[in-house]
Parts: sequence; C-alpha cells; structure tokens
Amino acid sequence: MDMSRRALLKVIVLGDIGVGKTSLMNQYVYKKFSQQYKSTIGADFVTKELQIDDKLVTLQIWDTAGQERFQSLGSAFYRGADCCVLVYDVNIQKSFETLNNWHEEFVKQQAADPADPGAFPFILFGNKIDVDGGSSRVVSEKKAREWCASRGDIPYFETSAKEGYNVHEAFLCVAKMALEGE
Ligand code: GTP
Ligand code: MG
Repeated sequence: MDMSRRALLKVIVLGDIGVGKTSLMNQYVYKKFSQQYKSTIGADFVTKELQIDDKLVTLQIWDTAGQERFQSLGSAFYRGADCCVLVYDVNIQKSFETLNNWHEEFVKQQAADPADPGAFPFILFGNKIDVDGGSSRVVSEKKAREWCASRGDIPYFETSAKEGYNVHEAFLCVAKMALEGE
C-alpha cells in the first residue's frame, strides 16, 4: 500500500480517577463495557484502525492512570502526541475543575517540543451522561462548552461508555483532528 495513505497517530487520554477513560477506550475498540472498576496503573495503549477518506489511520490510544501525578510518565511520553483527549464525569464537579490542571500540565509538557504548542489539538469528553437518567448531573453542557471556548474552541462530546453513546463519533473527531495536525 502507498505509505502516504497510512498514518500512525498517537492519542493520549487524560482525566481524573474513575471518570471512565479505560471504559471509553474499551467501548470504542472492543465494544465492551464492565461495571467493575479496575483502576489503571501506569500507562498502556490499544490500537484501532479506521479509514478516513483515502487514508488508513491507525490510532494508538494511550490510556493513563487518573491517580498518578502528571509528571510521573515523563515528558518523553507526551512528546509526539497528535491529540489529547480530556475526560471528566458530568456527575462529579471536581473532575470538571481538575481539567484546568490536566490541560495546563499537558500544554507545559508539549512546550518542551519545538512544534507550535498553542495550536495543539485537544478534545473534551463529558462522560457518564447515562447515570440516573441524567438527574445526578452537576456540570451542565453549557458550562462545559464555555470551558472549551475559553481554551481555544476545544471540540466537546457528551458520552456514555456504558451505553456506547457518542463514543464512535467522539473518537472519529479525535482521529480527524490528529490527522490534520500531522
Ligand atoms: P482510572 O484508571 O483509575 O484513572 O479510572 P478510569 O478513568 O479509567 O475509569 P474506568 O473506565 O475504570 O471507570 C470507572 C468506573 O466507572 C467503572 O466502574 C466503570 O464501569 C464506570 N463507568 C465508566 N464509564 C461509565 C459510563 O459512561 N456510565 C456509567 N454508568 N458508568 C461508567
Ligand atoms: Mg483506567
């Protein structure tokens, strides 16, 4: 195959402990969801191939541990990333507020990279919108979109890893953004 029609894209998923990072990836790649909570340790990736126009894209999606301090993975880990997915839980205020830290820390790490740090493609997922039929939600879509606008028009998707709601759409956007920046 013509190699110019192939792309390997590195995607990093960040967010607080328990917001559903691993579940979103499992739903996207394996169409599986487990109610059981197994906290991620360290970082690991899964791959997913998809076709975008005439390109065969391989997404290398890196899952990280929400409990770990950002720096613990080292700047080499963040370098070479093509897109950063930020995840929060719409039912937990704190996970929304911490987005500032995740975003800031990532930008800082990227700044070590000669590539234009300001233009880095982020995307935000508001996860677990299925919980209690939406009645235990504490962060409104409006608030989330305001935050995205304040960080340079970050695309926003509301998702449910449990129901599989919007997961494919959200990761398709990830792939397109990563491909554009390549
Ligand atoms: P760490 O690896 O510790 O950082 O957590 P994580 O962000 O990977 O969260 P994980 O995917 O392990 O999910 C945590 C818990 O939330 C698990 O019990 C999941 O079953 C549950 N969960 C994840 N996504 C959803 C969702 O969309 N809806 C509901 N109802 N539960 C979810
Ligand atoms: Mg995890």
